[in-house]
Amino acid sequence: MSKKKIYNSVSVVGTQWGDEGKGKITNYLSQEADMVVRHQGGNNAGHSIVIDDKRYSLHLIPSGIFDPSVKNVMANGMVINPIAMLEELELLEEQGIKDYQLFISDRAHMVMPYHIKLDGMFEKMKGERKIGTTKKGIGPAYTDKSSRDGIRFIDFLDDDLFKILLKNNVKIKNTMFKAFGEKEVSYNEIYKEFSKIREKIKHMIVDTSSMVYDALENGDKVLFEGAQGVLLCIDHGTYPFVTSSSPTSSSIPVNVGLPLNSVTKSLGIVKAYSTRVGTGGFPTEFEDEVSKLIREVGNEYGVTTKRPRRIGWFDSCLVKHAARVSGLTDITITLLDVLTGIETLKIATSYEVNGVKTTVIPAGEKDFNNAKPIYIELPGWTEDITKVKTFKELPTNAKNYLKAIEREVGVKVSQFSVGPDREQTIDINKMFK
Ligand code: GDP
Ligand code: IMO
Ligand code: MG
Repeated sequence: MSKKKIYNSVSVVGTQWGDEGKGKITNYLSQEADMVVRHQGGNNAGHSIVIDDKRYSLHLIPSGIFDPSVKNVMANGMVINPIAMLEELELLEEQGIKDYQLFISDRAHMVMPYHIKLDGMFEKMKGERKIGTTKKGIGPAYTDKSSRDGIRFIDFLDDDLFKILLKNNVKIKNTMFKAFGEKEVSYNEIYKEFSKIREKIKHMIVDTSSMVYDALENGDKVLFEGAQGVLLCIDHGTYPFVTSSSPTSSSIPVNVGLPLNSVTKSLGIVKAYSTRVGTGGFPTEFEDEVSKLIREVGNEYGVTTKRPRRIGWFDSCLVKHAARVSGLTDITITLLDVLTGIETLKIATSYEVNGVKTTVIPAGEKDFNNAKPIYIELPGWTEDITKVKTFKELPTNAKNYLKAIEREVGVKVSQFSVGPDREQTIDINKMFK
């Protein structure tokens, strides 16, 4: 094992509350890559990609799926609903994507029908303290992984073991469903459905840890695709209003099964403003004509749940936090075009928390809810920027906006994006060697 080797790898990380354009940027970079590795989360993610005016929505499948020469890996850190995965593949096939390479980690956990039911049940019981989950069963699937009740794809391949694990799980979950007055699930129905699925997916289930490691050692260009965003991280997000996995670059060695030096560049995807779906604090949130405009122009509706996204001004404290906990080396600023026509743009550069000025995200829920953003204001621009091809072509005020983000976050801007199409991406620095 060559510890000092510098691999040709890039990790794509969401730096806010998700939906920063990770799918678009991963897909853009995948044109150069040999392998794309989704390393955490499940079909709570919604990654929207536009290629030649055609829009694709991915939830589980890595964003390199459109290129037959790219190996797409779903790593052990993911929780995968195989029913949803097959539906997603079917939809892609209907859209003409038939020739692809897709691999599932034998150690990845399966999202089962009872996880989805539990997700809904727990949310209902939490009442006002509900998280606003995507109800895809993600939390309960990761809970089972941690409590060692989960079913991995390797276990699924062994029919005798699968029967035992499924029986135990159905017994435990039905005890809960009964206690909370919910309809029980049927072992026979789940077993029957999953037996059919096994035949369709068994050829994809492999040891992805070795596969990705060999690719890195071979000098291949490997792209790691994160889902969600750092503020939704189970450890470093706005707990408890977070997801159940860690989308940081530092989680990749565990989420994929790789040495510490497996990530060479860590590219933070930064939306030019802030959005959030689900509940939880949001210091720079605002609701007026400008936020409505941003929602409509930016198409700020969830890819997975269709919920309108909450809108806020750019918050450099969030992205600074993401830069630290995820070790960002570069950032991409997306959806810059959405801000065109707004007279004055605001950037939060710090907060006032209990009378004290800070740039650090407070861990406490109340402190974060009460954090008052301190803003700088910048003049906007009116010129259409959707066709610019270089940084130089941007209006001066747009240039200054990017420079202000770079200065406040303290990480170099290596790309920016001026529209949903993958062609509307401008490189300032190349990501792969
Ligand atoms: P992800 O979850 O991080 O992959 O992001 P989503 O796909 O959920 O949300 C990002 C949305 O913004 C999608 O509708 C994209 O098509 C769109 N998008 C991405 N980059 C840009 C951009 O630079 N400008 C505009 N107008 N839309 C963009
Ligand atoms: P992408 O990859 C935005 C949010 C949910 C909820 C919280 C927990 O498209 O950026 P969960 O279903 O994970 O238990 O929900 O996390 N959430 C996302 N928000 N983008 C996502 O993914 C998200 N995945 C989960 O709205 O607040
Ligand atoms: Mg999304």
